[in-house]
Amino acid sequence: MAKILKFPPGFLWGVSTSAYQIEGGIDNDWSEWERTEVRRKKLKEENKNLSDFICGQACDSYNKYEEDLDLVKGLNCGAYRMGLEWARLEPEQGKFDQAEIKHYRQVLAAAKKRNLKVVLTLWHWTNPLWLTAQGGWANNQAIEYFARYVELAARELGEYVDYWVTINEPMVYIANGYLTAKFPPNKKNIFQAWRVCQNLVKAHRAGYGIIHEKIPAAKIGLTMLTNYFEPAHKGNLVEVFSAKLADHCWNDRFVKKLKNKFDFLGLDYYFHDRLAWYPPFRKNLNKEVTDMGWEIYPAGIYQVLKNYAKFKKPLFIMENGLADQGDKKRVKFITGHLQYVHQAISEGVDARGYFYWSLIDNFEWAHGFKPKFGLYVVDRKTFARLPRPSARIYSEICKNNQVRVE
Ligand code: BGC
Repeated sequence: MAKILKFPPGFLWGVSTSAYQIEGGIDNDWSEWERTEVRRKKLKEENKNLSDFICGQACDSYNKYEEDLDLVKGLNCGAYRMGLEWARLEPEQGKFDQAEIKHYRQVLAAAKKRNLKVVLTLWHWTNPLWLTAQGGWANNQAIEYFARYVELAARELGEYVDYWVTINEPMVYIANGYLTAKFPPNKKNIFQAWRVCQNLVKAHRAGYGIIHEKIPAAKIGLTMLTNYFEPAHKGNLVEVFSAKLADHCWNDRFVKKLKNKFDFLGLDYYFHDRLAWYPPFRKNLNKEVTDMGWEIYPAGIYQVLKNYAKFKKPLFIMENGLADQGDKKRVKFITGHLQYVHQAISEGVDARGYFYWSLIDNFEWAHGFKPKFGLYVVDRKTFARLPRPSARIYSEICKNNQVRVE
């Protein structure tokens, strides 16, 4: 029998994007890596179409931001999570670009004009080239550079921002950039990974202090990719221990190092990992998967929320979504996850909002333009935005502050 699940009054409904994935026309460490011979050669060997892996104009949101904000409004969302591109604001070390500051002021003012709450991400993995040239986040100076950039953002843009996300998913950056070499700077170096981790912790804490100094009432947090780890066999002690260790290293350790310097936590939930003691160690049942082969496992969002409740701060699902070009699974995906968010709330978890990833199809990092996460399709030639059927359903959920589940 169908059930209607009501969310608490004031629950924040939103959609998420990031600067590099949608804006277009940016020169940073990612755009540079996309053009390297090594990268191109590898894609050729894999028989991939190179143009799918060059971010280039992305979704042209740099120019189409008014239209994007209209789409957010059209979804009846109360909030929009967007990002700043550091490389755009500080293309040369120490020299901030006034025209770009003005641009972001316009974008943020346009969001406010539409009465949207703004969640602003300051760093979503991409770096200015001058920072990369100095060793990127493995260089301890990066903390100071980041602090200077945060100071600028707080001073110039602070009046428009409701929630600050200092850094997005540090563990994903560390793992892909410094352990598996899938993201720039494409390293496999555990010592540097460790150093980068320390520096990102310090960068967040510095950013937290700077913003609060300027804007005492600011709400400042970060986002973590929170995976639900569980043993493949409940009675297997090795697996039970592995799941606990993974949970600690991936989900908790970074947050604990922040020593309570956050006003909220953003959870991004995509993955469930069923760990086994024998190769390949990850044994998911994969009853349903996304276009990218990622398992769809809504119950995991309940588990990660329950886990983060221990930090005793407001929680927001800042990302949850799937690649589903045909839009066959999206509605069930969203409603399925929301059912578990609702369950966590009804058990006392302080979850205050849900943001679908993503508003529009965009540049999915190392996977290029192929995966389609958007509630809106983006035509790759004209940049026209067209709603997928699920956009209407999500807009009803947001409007009514409730979800209907079977
Ligand atoms: C990232 C997004 C990304 C999404 C889907 C998240 O980990 O923050 O940038 O597009 O996952 O892979």
